[in-house]
Amino acid sequence: MEAMQQSGIKRLGVLTTGGDCAGLNAAIRAVVRRAAGHWGLEVYGIHQGTVGLMDNPPRYERLELGQADAALLRAGGTILGSVNRGDPFAYPLPEGGVTDLSAKIHAGVARLGLDAIIGIGGDGSMRIMHRLMSTGHFPFVGIPKTIDNDLGATEYAIGHHTAVEVAMEALDRLQPTAASHNRIMVLEVMGRDAGHIALAAGIAGGVDVILIPEIPWRMAPVAAAIKALRDRGRNFALVVVAEAVRTAEGETVLAGPSAPGAMPRLGGVGGPIAHALEEATGAEARVTVLGHVQRGGSPGALDRIVGSSMGVHAVDLAVAGRFGRIVVWREGRVADAPVEEAAGAARPVDPNDDMVRVARGLGICLGDQ
Ligand code: F6P
Repeated sequence: MEAMQQSGIKRLGVLTTGGDCAGLNAAIRAVVRRAAGHWGLEVYGIHQGTVGLMDNPPRYERLELGQADAALLRAGGTILGSVNRGDPFAYPLPEGGVTDLSAKIHAGVARLGLDAIIGIGGDGSMRIMHRLMSTGHFPFVGIPKTIDNDLGATEYAIGHHTAVEVAMEALDRLQPTAASHNRIMVLEVMGRDAGHIALAAGIAGGVDVILIPEIPWRMAPVAAAIKALRDRGRNFALVVVAEAVRTAEGETVLAGPSAPGAMPRLGGVGGPIAHALEEATGAEARVTVLGHVQRGGSPGALDRIVGSSMGVHAVDLAVAGRFGRIVVWREGRVADAPVEEAAGAARPVDPNDDMVRVARGLGICLGDQ
């Protein structure tokens, strides 16, 4: 990359879109340091994802090298703000219905004179930004983020590891109180369609049962696993469930109504599962729904390192004029791939994958046997 010819870009925009997570600011900081510090580019931080480009004037701030210090690396959330609804091709109207506002985004890019845009987002955002490339000027390089870690094309997305650390810490705190009161503790973690957080946190937190949406579960094996613990003299059990798991009756539990244009709001399945466990085992159960604490807070080391690596690589791709690429993490290092590979492509837990095998190897019940 060092020897590459500059493509002549002068002004680069960076935006964060979709649900926030720890490590976004680490990536933004890396973009500023590489783009402004190394390549001498002007960096514009776009506010509120692509929605900030729809306004006239667009909502943005000039990002200077002085802001890109270690305090930014440590900060949770995103200094640029984000939105997790507002597909410009089907933008929700206040009076109901949707409209195509993609032309406003192209106008915003032109108004700001952006030669390149680095978009840090999840699968839905990648699909939208990829589509924007075909409807007008949108010279885009993607960086993957999602605590769910279910984005196609990359083995790792920014934010996942910190979320797993938070869930693991919760399990470390739940275990002593579970043991003090002879209880089953159910911890519900996030993961809209995927069980990666539940699986990783469950292994790291030493749980007895992990329920994920990719592996259909039944009460009989779960109750038998808890009974077997009791027979061995154990007076408590730890259960981790992904929010997308269905109840014992096969129902999806929603936290409430969704805003127009937003994805369904999952949350609350831990409650009915805890209740069903009480009925099936006779033991007392309690539930903790971890929610958004998994997204906030200072990033762990891996999210700082991956965020920094991806930020630097994305700028180098833009400088080389290699648009339509997404930075990916493969075999422990940063690389890049066509954004089509990630646009709308999910990567759920493969029931045959290594982590599932590890969980089974540890004797953790996954609810199917
Ligand atoms: O996709 C990331 C995620 O945190 C999911 O795990 C969760 O279901 C969803 O976002 C929550 O979204 P919101 O912030 O809109 O409640």
